[in-house]
Amino acid sequence: MQTDFLVIGSGIAGLTYALKVAHDCPDKTITILTKTQSDETNTKYAQGGIAGVMDEEQDSFSKHVEDTLIAGDGLCDKHIVEIVVQEGVQRIKELIDWGTNFDKEPGGDYKLGKEGGHSEYRILHHKDITGFEMERALLQAIKNCKNINLISHCFVLDIITQHHLGYLVTKSTTDIECYGVYVLNLATKKIEKIISRVTLLASGGNGQVYRSTTNPSIATGDGVAMMYRAKGRIENMEFIQFHPTALYEPGVRGQSFLITEAVRGDGGILRNQQGEAFMQRYDSRKDLAPRDIVARAIDSEMKINGTEYVYLDCRHMNQQKFLEHFPNIHAKCMSLGIDVSKDMIPVSPAAHYSCGGVKTDEWARTSINHLFAAGECACTGLHGANRLASNSLLEAMVFAHRAYKKSIETFNNDTSKDLSTLEKAVPDWNAAGTTAPKEMILITQSLKELKLLMSDYVGIVRNNERLHRANRRLDLLHEETEKLYEKTEVSPQLCELRNLITVSYLIVKSAEFRKESRGLHFNTDYPNQSPILQNTIL
Ligand code: FAD
Ligand code: SIN
Repeated sequence: MQTDFLVIGSGIAGLTYALKVAHDCPDKTITILTKTQSDETNTKYAQGGIAGVMDEEQDSFSKHVEDTLIAGDGLCDKHIVEIVVQEGVQRIKELIDWGTNFDKEPGGDYKLGKEGGHSEYRILHHKDITGFEMERALLQAIKNCKNINLISHCFVLDIITQHHLGYLVTKSTTDIECYGVYVLNLATKKIEKIISRVTLLASGGNGQVYRSTTNPSIATGDGVAMMYRAKGRIENMEFIQFHPTALYEPGVRGQSFLITEAVRGDGGILRNQQGEAFMQRYDSRKDLAPRDIVARAIDSEMKINGTEYVYLDCRHMNQQKFLEHFPNIHAKCMSLGIDVSKDMIPVSPAAHYSCGGVKTDEWARTSINHLFAAGECACTGLHGANRLASNSLLEAMVFAHRAYKKSIETFNNDTSKDLSTLEKAVPDWNAAGTTAPKEMILITQSLKELKLLMSDYVGIVRNNERLHRANRRLDLLHEETEKLYEKTEVSPQLCELRNLITVSYLIVKSAEFRKESRGLHFNTDYPNQSPILQNTIL
């Protein structure tokens, strides 16, 4: 198969990019690949909303920039922060034009929420299901585009480069080129190659590395792992953001239900087992301090009290307003017998967001030619060592837009490439010597071990001994999984395990490189910050 523009991922980054390219190039083909159902993305689960300075009289770009820089703890790229904050407003307007409904005040102004680290009310939202509403509107807009082909249940295995044509490609190769991807088509069970002129990686996050995460099961870091295998540059993987308040449900594995930070923005208070509002002991901004600080404070309280959760107290809040803003959370709590007007909500931190990822420049270009990256899989320089709440959807849109602009330029400068010749030159996937998996337990047990070791040794608080142990255990899992991969027919489960091991390795390696504590990376052996600011590039 050949396509002019290839998009890996159907979340906010992939869909907004595809819509723009399709609109500008009605005679070109755009193919979107997604590994399960089209809407199963991190985007769909976003609750709090999207941050933007919609009213320059009440708020200002400089305040949003400043809040982002403070949260990022010294590692944000100020130029990128300014780009995102300033261009973000236009991107939000486009989202509205595509049909996204944000909540409004009776007078018609947008209702703006507040979350940790924000100095102003600036978060547009659709109740507590903002991502669901965005994904709905975007997929509807995609349906109306004749030149977009969205293929669901299509698992991308690897990026095709010169390596597949028999050339030596290493980390020092400067002109690595992306020719497309190999995919496992789950409908036909066949491995196919898709040749493209321009490719956008929009494959989302990697929360599934950890036992407890707010991310759905698709968030297995496939894009970052593929990029690493293709010898592309990866940055800042140690900065994994743990959301302070995932609903604590004993026995629930996989995806934890999020209690949005907007609840604290509206007045929710964290309390420990003794009922004490403890955040004032940790930070003057109390419950609305940036996430790294709140998550560490909760972790510390849980360790002091020997418990697996703390409480979020909403009993004093206006219950009518709570129901209007957070109907989904209200319903979920009720389903578990938690009446938020009478009972406190048990919460604990869960892996939520990857601040690092595929290194890009200000035009979303990666270190591999013809390959762009946007959204959670990318590391643009916006978040630094810790992401400010509700900046992620904004960043995804701003860089999808920039990727679209540069993609068209790249496409127009490169019409000489003959895709048919390339398709013939790229070999078919080599499955020689592989057989059907004999027992899935080899995959599922390794996955459990991986999640356990990453949660216990590479979580909110780290130290050198824990990282060293994690490394040794990862080596073994890597060795066993590579052996299995060589002799087994590929399946999403096996590939995801392999990708999660790669991503875990990148997190641990980056954590070991950082001999300081900064933002989301806290190492008790180096509790202070180093005077030298640097990004971790692998
Ligand atoms: P995603 O939306 O995750 O999409 C990834 C896509 O890639 C999927 O379609 C997936 O199928 C596809 N894919 C991945 N691997 C493969 C493969 N191998 N082959 C084929 N397809 C593949 N951010 C905010 O700014 N505000 C919020 O309020 C907010 N709330 C959040 C709440 C929750 C519970 C979660 C989990 C995240 C939240 N975030 C929020 C973060 C934000 O939602 C994500 O960072 C953002 O949606 C990521 O968008 P994306 O387009 O990069 O990736
Ligand atoms: C939330 O709603 O608390 C999540 C917001 C975010 O991750 O930006």
